[in-house]
Amino acid sequence: MRKLLLLGLAGLVLGCSPKSVVDPSASRIRIFYNNDLNAYLAPCGCRVSPIGGMDRRWNAMKAYPDESRVLVDAGNFLFKSAQSTDYLAPQWYEQAVGVVEAYNLLHADAVAIGETEFALGVQKFQEIAKQAKFPFISANVYWKGTSKLFLRDSVMIERYGKKIGIFGLFLPSLKLPPELEAKDPVSHAQAMVKKLRAQGADMVIALSHQGYDEDVKLANAVSGIDLLVGASSQSLLQKPDVENDTLLVQLSNQGQVLGMVEYEAKTLPKQRTNFVVAELDGQFNDGPPGLANPMKTVLAVTNLRMTEANKKLDEKIWAAHEGKADGFQTFLSCRDCHNKQAAFQENKRHAAAFLTLLAKKQENNLDCVKCHSVGMGAPGGFTNLNNAFFDAQGKAIPFAKLKDLAHPEPGTDYRANPAAIKPHVARWISSLEKAGVKKAFVSVQCENCHGPRPGHPFDNQLAGTGKVNANLCLQCHTKEQMPAWYDHAGKLDSQALAGAVKAVACPR
Ligand code: HEC
Ligand code: HEC
Ligand code: HEC
Ligand code: HEC
Repeated sequence: MRKLLLLGLAGLVLGCSPKSVVDPSASRIRIFYNNDLNAYLAPCGCRVSPIGGMDRRWNAMKAYPDESRVLVDAGNFLFKSAQSTDYLAPQWYEQAVGVVEAYNLLHADAVAIGETEFALGVQKFQEIAKQAKFPFISANVYWKGTSKLFLRDSVMIERYGKKIGIFGLFLPSLKLPPELEAKDPVSHAQAMVKKLRAQGADMVIALSHQGYDEDVKLANAVSGIDLLVGASSQSLLQKPDVENDTLLVQLSNQGQVLGMVEYEAKTLPKQRTNFVVAELDGQFNDGPPGLANPMKTVLAVTNLRMTEANKKLDEKIWAAHEGKADGFQTFLSCRDCHNKQAAFQENKRHAAAFLTLLAKKQENNLDCVKCHSVGMGAPGGFTNLNNAFFDAQGKAIPFAKLKDLAHPEPGTDYRANPAAIKPHVARWISSLEKAGVKKAFVSVQCENCHGPRPGHPFDNQLAGTGKVNANLCLQCHTKEQMPAWYDHAGKLDSQALAGAVKAVACPR
């Protein structure tokens, strides 16, 4: 896997800058490509300088004339992973619709499917795909046991009189829903090249959801593919690779990077005139002067729909967990007996993890809350903000009633300002206590590290060893969220983890 870290290179641009140099001649064709978007509409909230975002992508692409642009995507597009949970499904649905609307606005030409497209099943995929103004394509995915293709195999588009044939491929070893199966990519690619050339394609593009190593093999096995856009291995290629006259390109994930290959239209695809791989960072915050960015509306509406979907979730999900709320005691009870450990933890960023979301106005986004709360998805753990706070009788106190007590301070960044943690957390806890809250499922707490402790300390059978399983940390401290714990190839640095465990280990 070749994953090069772009961080710190502040928007590496090869060739000329996509913003400052706009070619006035209408004779260039610009193929924008992407892969492994994973439903990221906005930059991930967790990094020091977040990169990505559909609004920045719109700004970057709009620097070029509409009629010169092509946009293709090699899949893992609609969802974050191949499986959802009952908590996340409604929000993920709305998010996927938002992703489709964003690509509609960017005039996408074709998207190949990846395995995560089916997180909500085949039927929901079809429902969402119906809202797309671009085709989802795949040349080798069939309805199982039949010779009937699941989607159209390819699409032919035209720019400046030149024909561009685009087809999709899927790696058969990846998981598909039981209704579908993928057949041999190589023979299907050969057939596609033949078919598209026969239809007069000047250029053939493969959207290959197979990973870099398979792409290299494919390019060498099949002649006549001019451009191959990869996906799945998230191998950020800062320069195109050339294999058997096929140009191989691929980006990382989460829509963090913009990729574009530019060709002289007249001689397509013989003469390449530019190649851009650029982090979507702050330099893309503004679009071309005088143009309002309509993507901002798509993002705002999607956010609203996600929040509404999660509100409706309340009763259904909570009913399934009724009576199980005993699983977690939450930190408000632990601190009664373990005040030394509590005082230590209340000075740490974990204790402020929910305040962080409030400051970012993301407290209703379950995709964020799952790592900034306790026990989400586990029986008796966090479900949603109307069932996250309980009084002495075990009755839920909706967050709306506590909101004023939370004193959210917009924009507070606890990483940059650790001195704010202690006073903010202390004020938050005393507000909860004044409001009669006995259990609170927000922020990262004792039981995130020590496990749920029903009956402790009275039930001897549940007494633990006091040791913390460091694997628990990795549920939240993933490669994306905590790059400092992983090397460039994405492998865990066990020393970094051990050091971090020490740093958060409570005093005895
Ligand atoms: C439920 C998810 C979750 C678990 C489990 C978890 N963390 Fe965290 N951790 C977070 C979040 C969220 C933050 C950032 C909180 C904030 O600033 O709002 C964080 C912050 C940190 C920080 C501060 C990072 C920095 O750069 O200053 C350290 C260190 C840390 N965690 C270590 C650990 C260790 C070690 C474990 C396991 C023993 C662990 N965490 C378990 C979610 C988690
Ligand atoms: C997979 C778990 C996970 C998810 C999902 C997650 N976070 Fe985090 N978040 C973390 C961890 C771990 C940290 C600490 C690492 C660090 O600071 O580098 C963190 C840190 C942060 C920080 C920095 C806190 C500070 O004090 O500066 C912000 C802001 C944040 N997250 C917001 C969000 C938002 C908004 C979302 C949803 C879009 C989100 N997070 C989703 C795990 C997660
Ligand atoms: C009523 C007082 C009391 C409360 C409440 C309490 N503990 Fe304890 N805890 C104890 C005592 C006493 C011990 C030492 C006895 C033992 O080791 O079993 C202990 C031991 C521990 C230990 C070390 C041994 C082990 O079992 O792993 C951990 C960790 C711990 N508690 C975590 C928690 C957490 C987390 C909570 C909140 C969910 C909590 N405690 C709530 C009294 C309490
Ligand atoms: C980010 C993870 C994390 C959080 C959150 C956390 N602890 Fe700990 N705690 C540790 C680690 C690590 C140790 C050291 C145990 C070990 O060596 O594995 C520890 C040790 C302890 C011990 C001493 C165990 C012993 O062997 O005597 C107690 C008691 C304890 N924690 C209670 C708490 C309570 C109560 C809270 C909440 C207020 C809390 N912890 C929150 C990670 C955490």
